[in-house]
Amino acid sequence: MKQQEFNRGLLDFLRRSPTPYHAVADLVRQLKGAGFEALRESDEWQLESAGRYYVVSGGSSIVAFVKGRHDPADSGLRAVGAHTDSPCLKIKPQPEITQCGYLQLGVEVYGNALLNPWFDRDLSIAGRVVFSSAGDDMRSALIDYREAIAVIPSLAIHLDSNANEAHPINKHQHLSPVVQITTDDVDFRSLLLQQLIKEHADHGAKDVLDYDLYLYDTQPAALLGLKREFIAGARLDNLVSCYTGLRALLEAEGQQTAVLVCNDHEEVGSQSSAGAQGPFLRSVLRRLCGDAVGVHRAVQHSMLISADNSHGIHPNHADKHDANHGPIINNGPVIKINANQRYATTAETSAVFRRLCRTADVPLQVFVSRADLACGSTIGPIIAAETGIRTVDVGVPQFAMHSIRELCGSRDAFHLCKAMSLFFNEAHVSLA
Ligand code: CO
Repeated sequence: MKQQEFNRGLLDFLRRSPTPYHAVADLVRQLKGAGFEALRESDEWQLESAGRYYVVSGGSSIVAFVKGRHDPADSGLRAVGAHTDSPCLKIKPQPEITQCGYLQLGVEVYGNALLNPWFDRDLSIAGRVVFSSAGDDMRSALIDYREAIAVIPSLAIHLDSNANEAHPINKHQHLSPVVQITTDDVDFRSLLLQQLIKEHADHGAKDVLDYDLYLYDTQPAALLGLKREFIAGARLDNLVSCYTGLRALLEAEGQQTAVLVCNDHEEVGSQSSAGAQGPFLRSVLRRLCGDAVGVHRAVQHSMLISADNSHGIHPNHADKHDANHGPIINNGPVIKINANQRYATTAETSAVFRRLCRTADVPLQVFVSRADLACGSTIGPIIAAETGIRTVDVGVPQFAMHSIRELCGSRDAFHLCKAMSLFFNEAHVSLA
């Protein structure tokens, strides 16, 4: 595995993944290409030793695994976790707003988005549409307009002279994108039906029943900087970790059972049927390990690397970090520690990760937030609490978390992948 090829694949994955549904569809495409077989939650499973499988829940969460030759009850699982969702703007069910001769779309804010960067970007729309088809079946399909079709214009500085000092954004009033100049009534669902037919002529769509649609920036992710040391793009938190986990899983040799779980809804608290707090991963564990005792025994030998991006120390705002624990971009993946268990890292799991990095020749950093600043969280503590699996929270450092254009390094994800890959294939993750 070479860093350049890894980064090309990452940029491609980011471009193909404007929404969690698209991210899961692209993970499926890559898993299938590597010989992984699809499982359905509703079927009975016959799992083969060293078999490679994936199962999707809700269209936007996925578990993929290589079933080890060793019984999981005896040797445990090596799991990597990440999340597929990112803060963004979601289109409302009856979004049409016509005012001052413009057609706009009403939106809700999904997650804790940094809103300023959403203004004056060339936006498009993607997501999933549920529709009835010719035979009156109910089906769903992914759509992606791809082209720039919407924009949220800023107010000119002349009309808002304090804009550079204080610029409060009213989430209800200020975020509706403009999509067309018109005074006619426009029915958004009939526009969607046209797009659906354009993208999926073979589905025989008759009528749009409902949708989960999101705005996204059409500017693709790209390398940046005099020496191309940065990657700029939307949704780096946390598609970088999904992709990194995938690449590591593709190299799993199959002695140990290796698991990748990518959950939706992390940015809104993980409490959903396919979110980290739902039953999805637990039910896969149960089917992998046979019965409750098998799961309980497997958990004792298992470990999870929960990967989610971390805050790199910002040169213009260095005082927002603890000076001893401010990660620098491209200086390696970061172990995230919080005394109050907002991160699930313990001395033991941190030690395992340190040893993995040392063996894989991967540089390593540590993040602890300032004691007077609130700390974010991840799926790590939730999965640890739901399953009992010992967990380390890690991630690549980045700037501008939850912006529509985030920034990370071009070396850190590759390094994290080397550590994960060793983790999937290394026998020992427990104390002697
Ligand atoms: Co995140």
